[in-house]
This record gives sequence, C-alpha cells and structure tokens, in this order.
Amino acid sequence: LSACGGESGNGAADDGKITMGFSQVGAESGWRTANTDSVRKAAEEAGIELKFSDAQQKQENQIKAIRSFVQQKVDVIAFSPVVESGWDTVLKEAKDAGIPVILTDRAIDSPDTSLYKTFLGSDFVEEGKKAGQWLVEAYQGKSEQVNIVELQGNTGSAPANDRRDGFAEVIKADPKFKVIASQTGEFTRAKGKEVMDAFLKAHTDIDVLYAHNDDMGLGAIEAIEAAGKKPGVDITIITVDAVRDGMQALADGKINFIVECSPLLGPQLMDLAKKVVAGETVPARVVTEETTFTQEQAKAALPQRQY
Ligand code: AHR
Repeated sequence: LSACGGESGNGAADDGKITMGFSQVGAESGWRTANTDSVRKAAEEAGIELKFSDAQQKQENQIKAIRSFVQQKVDVIAFSPVVESGWDTVLKEAKDAGIPVILTDRAIDSPDTSLYKTFLGSDFVEEGKKAGQWLVEAYQGKSEQVNIVELQGNTGSAPANDRRDGFAEVIKADPKFKVIASQTGEFTRAKGKEVMDAFLKAHTDIDVLYAHNDDMGLGAIEAIEAAGKKPGVDITIITVDAVRDGMQALADGKINFIVECSPLLGPQLMDLAKKVVAGETVPARVVTEETTFTQEQAKAALPQRQY
C-alpha cells in the first residue's frame, strides 16, 4: 500500500497503510461541511491516510484531482460527483491504473458500472417522493390550486435531478398542485435568497416552496421575511437535509417539513474502502437510512442533533 516502502502490484508503495484520494464537491452547504467532517474523522479513526481535495463545485477540478490521485498511485479513490455526466474518460484512467473507485453521496449516469466498485449514499428520488407525499397529505381535502415554487440544487447534479423527479412523480397525481416556477439556487443560502426574491417579485400567489436543501430554504426564508410575509405560515416550506440550522427553523415554525439526507457517510466509506482494497466483494449499492421531520419531531430531535 501507499507512502514509503517498496512498490506493490498496482504500483503503490507498501507500508500497510491505505491511502485514499477523496474529491469533495465543495463547501456549499451545512450538509457538505458535516459530510467533510465525517469523512476526515472516519479516515483518522480507521488509520487511512486521506488526500482531500475541494472541487469548489466544478467538474473540471474534480477531474484534475482524480488524475492527480492516479498519478500519486493512491490505493483507492472516493468522490462525490458534482454532476452526473462526463466521468467515463477519467474513471477509465483510474481503472486502467488498477485503482478502485467508490462513489459517495452522488451517483453518475454512466452505463459502464465497471468504472466504480460501489455507490454509497442516499436515495434522492425517494427523498423527493417523501417531500411530495407530505405535501399531498397536508393539502388533502382542499380543492383550490396550490402554487409551488421550487429551488433546485446544482443543475445536472444527481440530487437536483432526482429530488425534482421524485417530487414531480408524487404531486402529478393531483392536478391542483402546480409548479409555477423552478430554478437552481445552487444549494447555497445566498443563491436561495436571491432566487426566492425574484420568485416573490414575479408571483404574488406562492403557496408552497420546495427547496432541494435546507440552506436554500434558509436563504429563501430571509427573502420571504424581507417581503413582509411569514415563512411557514403564509408560504409552506419543505426542504431536504435536516442540518442543525434547518432543524432550528423547523422547530421555530419557519419550515414545515424536512426530509432527512444523512451526511455522516465517513465510517461506512472507510469500511468499504478497506474491503475494496483487500479485493473483497462489496454490494453495488449501499443506501443510507433516513427519516423525515415535522415541527414537533424537530423540537424533540434538536438537542441530540450532531450536525
Ligand atoms: O449531495 C447532497 C446534497 O449536496 C445535499 O443535500 C446538499 O445540501 C448538498 O450541497
């Protein structure tokens, strides 16, 4: 394995320690910060040397980082792909160098599943469905049109595509639900605020905001308050993640429902890394367990929330 010592079969030096090259999406949200902390801490606890690279939400930076990990002959590469498409060439390079790849958090859309060993992360379609199901129940028995605005995650990313599709699939069963505006808020508070501000200027009749993450929802809350409206009352708000700030806003009545997406992937990732480096077979897909929170549930869960 890597670092000092003699060369091993795949070209890496062998000192018994696993080296992982990890390409993170960026630092766009509270979720991402918690995810980075989880990966760093778990690597340390597992005795895995982590080469960490922040792509600042740019695919070209991730491709560069992966190429550099291949050159450095790390033992395993893990990455959270910023977008779904365009990975085949660089992953083929890793495969040809004999370096196993683990997808974490986000998937890719390549039909060639031999390019990676496993995918660890949430079922984002299911998350979108849960958001839709809560909305359908909350507006049961009402017949007037429900005007929804949607703050999407980064264009082309798996969570943006899947959360949009899962939600749309559920609400389409009842024609009273209408998505009147949908735009990316890039998973950040600042952009969430900016786009919500524009939505509020363009539409006077918004009933519901569906934000693909807490951070965009929190930014939107600022815009809603600045427009003289009460978030959670005048506009029903549904978000995804359940990070501490989101949970606080939920407990405070400013958000109405949160679908959990767990960022604590570090320990499972290190476990999978050890197995793939040892040549063991791992499941092709490892799905994270998640729940949902109402305002009352958030109040109860907040004191123990880790992130
Ligand atoms: O890929 C997971 C998503 O990325 C989180 O839901 C969002 O907050 C983050 O930026």
